[in-house]
Amino acid sequence: MMKINARTHNNGELRLENVNQTVTLIGWVSKRRNLGSLVFIDLRDRYGITQIVFESEDFKEADSIRNEYIIQVTGVVNKKEHPNLKLPTGEIEVRAQKITIINKAQTTPFLIQDDTDALEDTRLKYRYLDLRRPKMQQYLINRSKITKSVREYLDSLDFIEIETPILTLSTPEGARDYLVPSRTRKGSFYALPQSPQLFKQLLMIGGLERYYQIARCFRDEDLRADRQPDFTQVDIETSFLDQDEILTLLENLVKKVFKDVINVDVETPFRRIPWVEAMGKYGSDKPDTRYGYELNDVKDILSTCSFEAFKTSKDIRAIAVHNEANLTSRKVADSLNEISKKFNIKQVTTLKYLNGELSGSFTKFLSEENKQDLIQRLHLQEDDLLIIAAGEFRDVCFALGAIRSFYAKKQNLIKPFTFDFLWVVDFPLFDKLEDGSFTSEHHPFTRPKKGYEHYLDEDPSKVISAAYDIVINGYEAGGGSLRIYDTEMQKKVFEILGFSDEDIKRKFGFFVDAFNYGTPPHGGAAFGLDRLTMIISQTENIKDVIAFPKNLSAVCPMSNAPMPVDEAQLKDLGIKVDLGDDK
Ligand code: AMO
Repeated sequence: MMKINARTHNNGELRLENVNQTVTLIGWVSKRRNLGSLVFIDLRDRYGITQIVFESEDFKEADSIRNEYIIQVTGVVNKKEHPNLKLPTGEIEVRAQKITIINKAQTTPFLIQDDTDALEDTRLKYRYLDLRRPKMQQYLINRSKITKSVREYLDSLDFIEIETPILTLSTPEGARDYLVPSRTRKGSFYALPQSPQLFKQLLMIGGLERYYQIARCFRDEDLRADRQPDFTQVDIETSFLDQDEILTLLENLVKKVFKDVINVDVETPFRRIPWVEAMGKYGSDKPDTRYGYELNDVKDILSTCSFEAFKTSKDIRAIAVHNEANLTSRKVADSLNEISKKFNIKQVTTLKYLNGELSGSFTKFLSEENKQDLIQRLHLQEDDLLIIAAGEFRDVCFALGAIRSFYAKKQNLIKPFTFDFLWVVDFPLFDKLEDGSFTSEHHPFTRPKKGYEHYLDEDPSKVISAAYDIVINGYEAGGGSLRIYDTEMQKKVFEILGFSDEDIKRKFGFFVDAFNYGTPPHGGAAFGLDRLTMIISQTENIKDVIAFPKNLSAVCPMSNAPMPVDEAQLKDLGIKVDLGDDK
């Protein structure tokens, strides 16, 4: 490591073999204890903590030292009488001969240590202090190691790193755009890219063949624990590869990253689960298969029961969770109903399997045969809780999927430090909305899977796409597809999505034009770098892996962005602000 004049060693470095050496250290005071005449200081930097010890009489000015002061210490390395085995440097201490206060610090709003009970907004407001916590630094170190590993891998395969514009036009990835007003073309706006999708395809038309970028993306959408408005993708595009070749290339990237960053051997190829199966069995298009509690199709059984609504339900599924029948209270039933309402299911039905039989008020609608069929289909065990949902396929699956993951968390079914990799493939190309219109399941540039093209004319809801999502531990870590490369098909897809000719010309005219000049077959994908770092770092909060994140209202509590701007700036842009009802 590079030597720095201010110190001879860092604070994570000294061991027994350094005993008797004179060293100089620098860092932040992490803790200070006075034990009679002896004073102990824990000195911290990015590399660790070293204990400093001195007689209080020797350094009168040391009395004024407080937490988070930066001090420089010269002294001799001693073997500690009582080693602290929790610290890598715990077998030694440095007996100070000289202490210089380099800089003072006010009392910090929270203690700088890994286990903090500071409120999240306080941590974000003083993010630079939060970042001093070793855990936070490790997250950012992991992130940096991931990008290094990605670059090495893609570079070895001839990929070129190319930047694409941040001030650009809207890219349809399904979220609202962040807009930037233009001064030179008053009344016009750039959009920040939701992803570099259009540009990377244009790079393929430009003949670059293998592109990647660690790309900043911007989406104004509802935020969640794994979503930020301003996030980063590892964005990849290639020409002339088929789907299997692309999936192998991406699997090997994941394999190298996990090995390089956390020394985990990942087995490839990953399982490929068709979307219908992922939804039908796990209730999710990004299933976590580290635990069971699979969904079972019970429509054939329950459409014959005497509950009227079930006779016409499009889909009826059930899951059975162990050791819950006795526990189920009003409160649990309420939270199940809350989950299901969120997914458009009017109500979930629960039954208990106790003393070898099904009980619950719903049993009055069931024949003896219905009951036996359910017991067998779900392999019910004593004290199982049976949960049933009915409605549209997607709604039923998502509701039961959320309930499945609710119980996995409640019952601690997920072993820490286990990784579950899979592909979800064979997505529908379109999602049909209630009003009969279609939206893209991925984005409008995704190709239909070979053999399904004719459904574009016949029944768009039946088109399967050449799209794939990489799922790790129930997170959508990345996704991509083969792209449409002929003008006619692209136009047809735009039409199905309800874009008028004028819309197409205005929004994508340049892109559709480019298709006329020899577009190679191409495809690609993008990993969420933030999500990959979360998974590798075993944290469930995306903010942990971003140096300066926004809170759930998309506000940065540190800088207080976004902020109103000066009248003069607005005038330059030709903009008048009308807060309307938000005043
Ligand atoms: P997609 O929209 O699926 O695909 O995004 C790719 C990956 O980016 C991550 N991601 C996010 N991470 C954090 N916060 C967000 N708000 C957020 N939104 C998405 C996810 C996701 O899998 N252009 C296509 C890719 C392609 O087809 O090549 C795209 O952007 O991990």
